[in-house]
Amino acid sequence: MYILALESSCDETSAAVVKMDLANNGYPKAEILSNRIASQIPLHTVYGGVVPEIASRAHAEVISSLTADALNDAGMTVGQMDAIAATAYPGLIGALLVGVNFAKGLAYANHLPLIPVCHIHGHIAANYFTHPTLKPPFLALVASGGHTSILHVTDYNRFHTVGRTRDDAIGEAFDKVARVMGMPYPGGKEMDRIAYEGDSSALKLPSAAIADDTLDFSFSGLKTAVINHLNTLSQKSIAYNPADIAASFSEAVTASIIKKLDIALDRTSQTQLVLAGGVAANSHIRSALQNYCKKRGDITLYLPDPALCGDNAAMIGAQAFFTYRDDMIADTSLNASAVMPSEDPFPTL
Ligand code: KG4
Ligand code: ZN
Repeated sequence: MYILALESSCDETSAAVVKMDLANNGYPKAEILSNRIASQIPLHTVYGGVVPEIASRAHAEVISSLTADALNDAGMTVGQMDAIAATAYPGLIGALLVGVNFAKGLAYANHLPLIPVCHIHGHIAANYFTHPTLKPPFLALVASGGHTSILHVTDYNRFHTVGRTRDDAIGEAFDKVARVMGMPYPGGKEMDRIAYEGDSSALKLPSAAIADDTLDFSFSGLKTAVINHLNTLSQKSIAYNPADIAASFSEAVTASIIKKLDIALDRTSQTQLVLAGGVAANSHIRSALQNYCKKRGDITLYLPDPALCGDNAAMIGAQAFFTYRDDMIADTSLNASAVMPSEDPFPTL
C-alpha cells in the first residue's frame, strides 16, 4: 500500500511517500520512498521558541511544493497513492489545520481514503522502518519537545499510558536549560554534544522520577534546580562550565528515565523496549539504555534511526497503515485537535 503522508504539528513541515505491508508472520514491511522535511527552526530561533502564528503561516507557504517534491522523489504521482494521511493531533492547532486541510483536499480531489494519525503514535511507528523484527506488544518511551510518556503498546493500535510527565516534557527541559546558558533554540542537540566535554558529577541534581508508586515524572523540578543554580552563580559573578551543567543534567535525566522504565518493564512483563521522539536522538540516553538492557539481559532494545527521531511525515505514514487496516478512515468533516480528542478511535488510555 502506498501512502502519501503529511506532518505539520509543530515547527517542521514534512511530506513523505511510504510503502507499507504486513508480512504473513505479522511483522510490518515498511519502506520510505521519500521523506521531505522543511524545518522552520531558523524562523523561530530569534524568539527563543516556536511562535504558533509564524509556524502556521510557514506550513501554508511550503506544504504544496514540499508534497510535489516528495512525490517527485518517490517517482510517483498522487494518482498512484492508495491513501492520504495527516497528523490530526496533538500539536499546535493552527499548524495542524494546515496539514489536515491540505490532506483533505488531496483525498477529496483524488477519491482517496483520508487517514488521521496521532503524532505520538507516529513517533513510535518510526521504529518499524529501522527494525523489521519489531511488532507489539512492547513498552515505549516517547520523549520529545512536547510529550514524555511511557506507553504499553499491546497492538499496532492499542496504546496504554503507564507513566507520563506531570509538567515539562524532556525536550522542553533540555531546551530551557540550554537557553539559560545562552544556546540558540532548540538547544537539546547542543546539550548532547557538549555533555561529552563535561563532568557529570559536577552538580548534584534531584531526580525527575517521582518518588511514589506511579511511573510518572516531573522534569520541571529538575530543570528549575539547574536554572536556580545558574542564576545564583550569575548573581555572584561566578563562572561555570556549560559542559559540566549539560553532563550533570543529562546524567540526572538518564537516571530518572531508567529508574521508571525498569519498574514499568517488570509491571507490564514486557521484554521489548522502544525509544521514540526527538529526544530519542540523544546519544547519552541511547547508550545508557543500551548498557542498562545489556546488564539486565532480558530486554531487547529498539532505537529509532536518528534521522527519524524528530518530526517527519514518514513516521505518520507508517502508523497510518495500521489506522487504515482498522478501518479508521476520516471523511471531509475531519478536524484537527490540539490535544488527544475524546472521540479518538484508538485512544491512548
Ligand atoms: O519530536 P520532536 O522533533 O518535536 C516534538 O514533537 O516535540 O522533538 C523536538 C525536541 C526538542 O526539544 C529538541 O531539543 C529535542 O527534541 N532534541 C534533543 C536532541 N535532538 C533533539 N534533545 C536532547 N538531545 C538531542 N540529541
Ligand atoms: Zn514530535
